Amino acid sequence: MNTAGFDVSRYFDNLASVWDNGTKPDQDRIKTILSIACIKEGDRVLDVGSGTGILLPYLSWNVGVAGSVLAVDCSSGMLNVSQEKNSVLPNVSFRQVNVETESLPGHFDHIVMFNMFPHLRHPFTALRKLVERNLTADGNLLLFHSMNRQELNEMHSKRFGDGEYFELPAIDRLAERIRQDGMRTSNLVDDELGYGLLVSRGARCYTIGA
Ligand SMILES: C[S@@+](CC[C@H](N)C(=O)[O-])C[C@H]1O[C@@H](n2cnc3c(N)ncnc32)[C@H](O)[C@@H]1O
Repeated sequence: MNTAGFDVSRYFDNLASVWDNGTKPDQDRIKTILSIACIKEGDRVLDVGSGTGILLPYLSWNVGVAGSVLAVDCSSGMLNVSQEKNSVLPNVSFRQVNVETESLPGHFDHIVMFNMFPHLRHPFTALRKLVERNLTADGNLLLFHSMNRQELNEMHSKRFGDGEYFELPAIDRLAERIRQDGMRTSNLVDDELGYGLLVSRGARCYTIGA
């Protein structure tokens, strides 16, 4: 879990100009990962920790002109790069938000957290808040990483100090922890496709806001 001294926005601001030079999952992998969430035409999608917008062209295409995509990130540097690249997408808007300290208005059919969960200071609190405040009753949240658990934890342990990232547990442990907070989980993956699962509201999941 991130400690109070680590400034995640500044960290990603400093990386923004070179972020897209790193290795990225190919088109087919991104499409397969997104297919887990069953995003369809007309849906409203929230991309949390959208970064430089790697998913935005795919999300935009999936929802079509009848749908919408909101890309949020706490790093203005990452968002600026994303806006320069993706401003042509007619159904995508951008907003600088720290989802741990600020609340987002509105409800979404899908929330996507791609390669961002370990950077949250209180990941389970943030996840629950997003589901309770921003997910429609029959919507889903796709929490996913383009690396498997072992690869990702190894990479993070080299880049970050203790307490500066959340070490991913075995996927069934992650699912169990999320279910303890009253949500449902399905589609658990930890293999060559990556690491992640699908989260939906459960009976003990309250709706906050209208
Ligand atoms: C590893 S990057 C992934 C970016 C993008 N999803 C991708 O896969 O290329 C993590 C992103 O999450 C953002 N982020 C981390 N904590 C956040 C928070 N509390 N609120 C909003 N964005 C956050 C960072 O600024 C960064 O852009």
